[in-house]
Order: sequence, then C-alpha cells, then structure tokens
Amino acid sequence: MNIYDIIEKKKQSLELNKEEIEYFINGYTNGTIPDYQISALLMAIYFRGLNIEETYYLTNAMINSGDTIDLSPIDGIKVDKHSTGGVGDTTSLILGPLVASCGVPFAKMSGRGLGHTGGTLDKLESIPGMSIDLSIEKFINNTNKIKMAICGQTSDITPADKKLYALRDTTATVDNVSLISSSIMSKKIAVGADCLVLDVKVGSGAFMKNVEDARELSKMMVDLGEKFNRKTVAVITNMDEPLGLAVGNSLEVIEAIDTLKGRGPKDLEDLCLSLGAKLLVLANKCNDEKSARILLEENIKNGLAFEKFREFIEMQGGDVSYVDDTSKFKLSSRKREVFSEKSGYVTKIDALEIGEISKNLGAGRETKESEIDLGAGIVLNKKIDDYVEAGDPLATIYTERKEQIDKAVAGIKEAYKLGEKNSKAYKIIIEEIQKC
Ligand code: URA
Ligand code: CA
Repeated sequence: MNIYDIIEKKKQSLELNKEEIEYFINGYTNGTIPDYQISALLMAIYFRGLNIEETYYLTNAMINSGDTIDLSPIDGIKVDKHSTGGVGDTTSLILGPLVASCGVPFAKMSGRGLGHTGGTLDKLESIPGMSIDLSIEKFINNTNKIKMAICGQTSDITPADKKLYALRDTTATVDNVSLISSSIMSKKIAVGADCLVLDVKVGSGAFMKNVEDARELSKMMVDLGEKFNRKTVAVITNMDEPLGLAVGNSLEVIEAIDTLKGRGPKDLEDLCLSLGAKLLVLANKCNDEKSARILLEENIKNGLAFEKFREFIEMQGGDVSYVDDTSKFKLSSRKREVFSEKSGYVTKIDALEIGEISKNLGAGRETKESEIDLGAGIVLNKKIDDYVEAGDPLATIYTERKEQIDKAVAGIKEAYKLGEKNSKAYKIIIEEIQKC
C-alpha cells in the first residue's frame, strides 16, 4: 500500500477501504507520511466526499490513534453533550447540574475557547480556585459521588485529529461534513459516555451556514454514534443571535447561575431544558421528553439544580462564595453602554460579529497561546423581536482595552439588524435528528 495510490483513488472518486484509511491515519500520526500528501488527500476528500462506511473507518482510525477512556467504573448510564461552537453558549454549565440533579451522571471533557467561540474550561476558571485538571481517577470518583464532573482532556485523546485539524485549518478543508463528523465524534467516542446530545449550530457564527448543511452533518454524526453503540441525538439550533444575553467568561458564569435559579434568558433556559429532556430519555430516566422537561423545571424551582452546581464547584476546589454572591465576580474595569441610533424591531444580531468583538475586548483567544481577560465581554440588552427606540441601550461592554472601545461600540451597532417585526417568532430549536 502507498499513499500516492490512495490519493489517486480518492481523486477518481473511488471508495477507500478500511486498510487504506488506517494506513494514511497511522502514517500521518507517526510522521511517516508528510503534510503535503495528506493535504492533497484532504482536498480530494473535500471534493469527492466520503460515504458513511469510509467516515466510520476514518473515525475509528482516529479513535485508535490515541488513548480512550473507560467510564464503566461510573455507576449508571453516562451522558455527554457537544456543541459545534456557538457565541455566548453557556449551556454545559447549566445542563450538567440540571441532569445531575435528576441522578443522571454527566461526565464531560471540555475545551478552551478559540476565535469567536468561548470554551467551558475558561468560563469555569473565572471562579477562583476552580480546578479543571482532574486525573481520570478523580474525574470518575467525582462523577460517582455527585453525578457530575467537567475537566480538560488529561490523556492523549485522538492525536490524529489534532494533527489533521491543524492541517485542515491551513488548507481550506475544514468545512466538509465527513471530516467534521469524524473529528467531533472520534473525540466524543474516545472519552466514553453512553449517550450523547449534539447541538449543531446554524447561522452566522456557526460552521454550518444553512439548515440543509446542518441536517447533513447531524445525520452523519447520529449515524456514527449509533455505529459505535452510543445513543445519539442531534438538535439543529439557531445562531441568528448569540445565545442568552451574556458573552464572555465571568459574565456567562453569572448567566448560568441566574438560569439555574430560574431567572435566566428564555432562549438559554429553553435550550437547556430541551437538551436535558433528551438526555434524561436517552439515559432511561424518563419515558418521554414531556415528563423529563417537567422534572427538570421542578429541579430549577426547588433549587436542586442550583445546589448541584454549587456542589460541583466545591468538589473541584472553586470558591462557592462567588456562586452564592455573583457580585463578587470581578468584571473588567472599563464599562460602556451602546445606544441605538435607529428604531425598529430586532431581526438579527450577527453572532459571528458579536463573538469577534467580545474576543477583541479580551474575552477570547486569537491563538491557542493568547491570554484571556475573564472579566471582559458583552451583555446584550435587546434580543430578536424586541422593539428598540432610538437612544435605547442595545448592550453593555466590559474591557480593559481602552483602544478597542470605539470599534466595539460601532461593531455592536452594526451587528444589530433592525426592521419590521418578524412575523414568525424566533425559535431556538429548528429541527431534531435522531435515528428512526
Ligand atoms: N470541531 C471539531 O472538533 N472538528 C471539526 O472538524 C470541526 C469542529
Ligand atoms: Ca450567553
């Protein structure tokens, strides 16, 4: 077998077999096949595509390129969640305690933010003392004790994906359904949960710009999940505006706490309840989503979900006085309100634009090595379908970067699209995809 023939085969749109796929993944991971040949192969894959069998073999080869985590020492049916990267997406911090408060173990390995999207680990680190570097043993023990843990990846999970993703990033081959599916699902399957809910974002600020592409990606990932015996469902969700009101690390932790206390933004709460209901059904905790949702709403009202969050923060060393009194979070010192120049109904808030502005204010990373300002970000005052009068505050920005303020103010005004009232009410969940 040689790589030239594999490239040639895919160039001619022929199907690659398991051995060929394993050959190029192993060769690339161990450095015997160079970047330029894999680049050519990626471009051939980009144009010719991979079918579900080939995508399955690719996912499997990537899983086998590194360590896998065995979560079987955790009692019960373990659930996990993945989002394809939104703006202001605080969901994991709410969803985890919600389902854990119902007795369903939520064991999640999260990532850091990059570019215009934030990461759960950074958000958690805005609570002083919070440790996200757990050993696998501690990760498992914590989940057994309190039904939830969130940590960074400790061991060497899917090294093939790390290399391949970096190469795709520089060769314009990221946005291919098979390549995205295998990349996401290899990581999720390697870390071991039994059930998975996927939040596939669509709109500006998301990988998938339209519902058709998001549907194709969702179906492929659900198919892969099933092939690996993981119960998987996907929801396609709207990113025509950032999720909730807060964008930024400390700001989003405060928002998560508010939501767990039943006073969060409607869209964020609705999404968390919907995803949570799916997880409770997948984990056989409830028979249907309706009863699951009622249980979750109950646990917000009676304080159990908030208590679980508090317990989780304490368990991982975080200072719970911040959870009890969110005014303790230190936000960036420069605060500026942004006022609308026009009147009208909000029809869209460009999420990509808001994510970029938040990053420039210090809340996000340009590169993996950038330092972030945990107190920086944006709080929106108006959401889609709200009426805005000229002179009304649209948003508040927080930053230490004085030189970024004017640009951010102008950018936020630009990101808000005003028009006639939207006749169709904005829906956060557009569609659900599961195995029939
Ligand atoms: N996220 C991933 O982890 N991989 C992709 O290919 C795209 C998004
Ligand atoms: Ca938010």
